[in-house]
Amino acid sequence: MTYPDLRGFLADLGNDLLKVSQPFAPKHEMAALLREMPANGPAVLFVNVAGHPGARVVGNLVASRRRVAKALDTTEAELNATYLQRTRQGIAPRQCDDAPVKEVRHTGSLDIAGLLPVLTHYAGDGGPFITTGVVLCSDPATGRRGMGIHRMMVKGDNRMGILLANPPLSAFHANAEANGKPLDIAVALGVEPALLIAAVVKAGPQGPDKMDMAGALRGAPVDLVRAETVAVDVPARAEIIIEGRVLPGVREAEGPFGENTGYYFSNISPVVEVTAVTHRRDFIYGALCPWTSDVDSLLSLAAGTELLGQLRTQMAGIADLDLTTGTCGFTAVIALSKAKPTDVRRLIHLVFGMDKRVKLVTVVDDDVDIRNPREISWALATRFQPDRDTVILCGMEGYVIDPSCGGGGFGSRMGMDATRGSGPEFDKITIPAAAAAKAKAVLAELGFVAG
Ligand SMILES: Cc1cc2nc3c(=O)[nH]c(=O)nc-3n(C[C@H](O)[C@H](O)[C@H](O)COP(=O)(O)O)c2cc1C
Repeated sequence: MTYPDLRGFLADLGNDLLKVSQPFAPKHEMAALLREMPANGPAVLFVNVAGHPGARVVGNLVASRRRVAKALDTTEAELNATYLQRTRQGIAPRQCDDAPVKEVRHTGSLDIAGLLPVLTHYAGDGGPFITTGVVLCSDPATGRRGMGIHRMMVKGDNRMGILLANPPLSAFHANAEANGKPLDIAVALGVEPALLIAAVVKAGPQGPDKMDMAGALRGAPVDLVRAETVAVDVPARAEIIIEGRVLPGVREAEGPFGENTGYYFSNISPVVEVTAVTHRRDFIYGALCPWTSDVDSLLSLAAGTELLGQLRTQMAGIADLDLTTGTCGFTAVIALSKAKPTDVRRLIHLVFGMDKRVKLVTVVDDDVDIRNPREISWALATRFQPDRDTVILCGMEGYVIDPSCGGGGFGSRMGMDATRGSGPEFDKITIPAAAAAKAKAVLAELGFVAG
C-alpha cells in the first residue's frame, strides 16, 4: 500500500502506535519519554501537547525495521533488497494544486516556538531544536535540487541557526554566499518515512535526485507545490513547511545540542531568516530524539544499506553490512563470503573511500550474525590478531560531530580483519539441525521465547 502522507501511515499502524493522552511538554518531557522506548517499540503520538492545543507530535516513527518495511510496503526480510532495487530507478515528483500543507499561512513577525511544539531534548541543550526538518533548496550555480536533514536551533522571532556540515546544502550555501546572495530554503516537517529516509541517503554530489528516490521508495511520485515566499517546491502533503533564507556572510553561535553521538556539540553556524510558516489545520509535528533507535534505524537504511549497495558495485561476495546501533554510523560490520585476505584489505579501503562517517570497520565471514554483538566479539576474539589483521589510516578527514577528532578536522580510521583462517580449527561448532528444531519446538510449547 502506498501511503499518501504521514497521517495516512499513522492511521494504518494499529497497535504499533502508542497514543499518549497525558499532557506532555515539548521541553524535556517528550524526549524523556522517547528515550524510554525500547528498540523496536511502537511509534508514539502525543495528543495532548502542553502549550499547543490542537497540535499533535509523533516520535519514534522509524525506530523499528518492522515499521520502515511497512512504510515501504515490503517485508523486513526484503527491506534491503527493496531499498536497493527501488532507489536505483527513481520516480520523478509531480506538481499539483491541492496542497493541504497550506491550509493555514503565517507571514510577518513569527514566534516559531510559539507556533510549533519544537522539542528541547537534553538537559544541556541551548534551546529548542528542529531535528526532522527536511531542508529543501536548489543550487544557485546549477539549479540542481538538494535535500537533507539539518538541525535547526529556534532562536527567537523569525531566526534559526542551521548546521550545514554536509553537502549538498553546505555547497549550495557556499555558492550563494560567493555571490553575496541568500539561499532560499524550505523545511518540510511531518513527512512520511520514505521522504525522511530519502533525505538522509548518502547520495553524493553525482547521485540521483533525492525527491526521485523518495518517489521510488514510496512507489508513487511525491506531490509538490511552490512555496509561498521562496523559490522552492515543497511536499504538498507535509504537515508543516517553514520557509526562509540562509543569510549570506552571517554566522552565530548555535548549540549546545545533544547530538546523535551522545555528546553535546556547539558550532558557529549560518542563520535562517524565516519568511513564512504554513501548516495543516490540525498538524502533526515530527520529533526525532537524538541518540535513540529512531536515529539508528534511519541511518541503517539511508547510510548502511546505501553503502552496501555502493560497495557491491565494486566488489563481489559482500553478504551484508550493519551500522552498529548507538554509534551514529561511525562503526560498521561487514560480512564477506569466501573472504581472501586481499579482498578484506580492499574492502576496508573501499569503505573508507566511500563514507567519510565510518571510522571503525570489522570484516567477518558470513557464518557470523552481524546483528548479534556476541558473535562479533567472538569473531574478533578468535579470528583476529591485532598485529597482523589491523589496517590504520591516519590524517583522514574527521567528522565534525566526533569529539575525539579534537575539532582539528583530522581523524584516523581502523579496519579489523576478523575473517577465519582456512583450516578446520575455524569451523564453528553447531548443534545438529534435528535436535535444534526439537529444542525450539518444546520451548515454544512451554511458552518460552528464545532470545
Ligand atoms: C538524524 C540525522 C541528522 C542529521 N543532521 C545533520 C545536520 O544537522 N547537519 C548536517 O550538515 N547534516 C546532517 N545530517 C546529514 C545530512 O542530512 C546529509 O547531508 C545527507 O545525508 C546528505 O548526503 P549527501 O551529501 O550524500 O546527499 C543528518 C543526518 C541524519 C541521519
